[in-house]
Amino acid sequence: MVKAIISPSVLASDFGNLTAECRRMIKGGAEWLHMDVMDGHFVPNITMGAPILTCVHKGIPDIFMDCHMMVAQPEKWVNDIADAGGALYCFHLEATSDPLSLIQAIHDRKMKAGVAISPDTPSTAISDEVGEKADMLLVMTVYPGRGGQKFLDRCVPKVAELRARFPQKDIEVDGGVGPKTIDVCADAGSNVIVAGTAIFNAPNPEEVIQLLKNTVNT
Ligand code: DX5
Ligand code: ZN
Repeated sequence: MVKAIISPSVLASDFGNLTAECRRMIKGGAEWLHMDVMDGHFVPNITMGAPILTCVHKGIPDIFMDCHMMVAQPEKWVNDIADAGGALYCFHLEATSDPLSLIQAIHDRKMKAGVAISPDTPSTAISDEVGEKADMLLVMTVYPGRGGQKFLDRCVPKVAELRARFPQKDIEVDGGVGPKTIDVCADAGSNVIVAGTAIFNAPNPEEVIQLLKNTVNT
């Protein structure tokens, strides 16, 4: 049985106080912190990279940074993110022609490897071998690029398909996830829940974290 993990997306946080924001989430019950790295190529926006992650890691040495790499050349950043203290390196399947070698490179640097698929990529694009070697599979429930978008219900069946194929793997959902959309995600079998605006914009983030966790656990 996979366990529920809540990974607040710091994209919705006050970047000027990023380390404090991460601490606030951990205190509120978050197991992981979801760090959205965007390079202005794979997606139009630019967010943060290894130097900022290094600072956060220095402030919170035992933080689990779930690094969502929305970058055009995911091979290029493995060493930098590992040096910055990244715990999980999740690349987009659409951005690489050799996912198996990339997973190996991530493992060589002692990080967990995640494989993300955008809304238009079918779950079958993840081969059995890639799925078995990866530690986590990420089903995007919005088009990658920015926070605060509407949850795309049509992505949910992919979660169920991957859960059926990979019963022991962590399966993450990301994009538009919150109290209103968590039920379908949990029912489909996702256990790692990313939420940005739903957590950071709430008056009591810890209540939202707890609600998401309870929904996955029941
Ligand atoms: C979108 C990012 C998400 C985003 C989630 O490109 O990958 O992690 O920050 O934000 P919400 O939960 O607000 O949709
Ligand atoms: Zn993300």
